Amino acid sequence: MKIIRDVHEMQRTALALREKAIPVGVAPTMGYFHDGHLSLMRRAKHENDICVVTLFVNPTQFGKNEDLSKYPRNEARDSAMAESVGADILFMPPPEAMYPAGYQTFVDVEEVSLPMCGESRPGHFRGVATVVTKLFMLTQPRRAYFGLKDYQQCQVIRRMTGDLNIPVDLVFCPIVREPDGLAMSSRNVYLTKEERRAATVLSRALENARRFVEQGQRHAEKIRDFVKMQILAEPLAVIDYVEAVDAQSLQPIGQIAHPMLVAVAVRFGKTRLIDNIVIEI
Ligand code: PAJ
Repeated sequence: MKIIRDVHEMQRTALALREKAIPVGVAPTMGYFHDGHLSLMRRAKHENDICVVTLFVNPTQFGKNEDLSKYPRNEARDSAMAESVGADILFMPPPEAMYPAGYQTFVDVEEVSLPMCGESRPGHFRGVATVVTKLFMLTQPRRAYFGLKDYQQCQVIRRMTGDLNIPVDLVFCPIVREPDGLAMSSRNVYLTKEERRAATVLSRALENARRFVEQGQRHAEKIRDFVKMQILAEPLAVIDYVEAVDAQSLQPIGQIAHPMLVAVAVRFGKTRLIDNIVIEI
């Protein structure tokens, strides 16, 4: 596995691969790998000749009071893990190369960035859309792999690649969970033992929502309240949002007829976790 830090070298390498029509699959990440990240890398390797993993803790997607400086990092461990699943290139640019002095260009995906995480983290998706566009330009992928754990992020990137005619196939991969149901996240390491136990309420509540629909419930608001009630019953959980919306548009719905997304963002102590489920009808 080759480690590239220089943005020009990355782009030269990617353009040379494209010239030879060698398909590249990219898995963009912020590092501190777990099985969720590795699942994207394995699939990128399986479906393309070359798997490029990008590791960049992107400052523009963090709010002022968020955890940018504390975001967990371990380059040596991450390199070994990426190599173990067959990554060919690990691209780790320094922030000053991605955003040099005088940088002033941003990608803003409008409506789909507004609800849910867009409301609680203003500017977050602008940072995500901007860095993903830059990473696409630098790695020239045929396919790009993202996890459905960040469901709204997938919708923002889908809209962006369509609107900007970016020639990349997006592959959205299922949520990888711990044995007790907790969605894997680099931020899980922040949780205390008590918070870690309490956090299992999220996946339980979402699974119960699926059962509620299977039993015939069709009112989005009732389903949302049902999930909310279960999370409220956990004393360590502080709700940021609980939404039951149309899975495509992320707009509110009354009666569910199409696939519905139930998405939650909940704080346990200082740690904000997200999780979701798509319920087909
Ligand atoms: P990060 O949080 O490191 O996640 C990188 C990728 O791994 C994302 O596509 C995310 O959805 C996926 N992922 C994380 N946890 C997962 C899980 N439990 N199961 C499946 N996939 C999972 O998301 C980002 O970084 C950044 O916003 C990024 C897209 C890299 C832009 O900076």
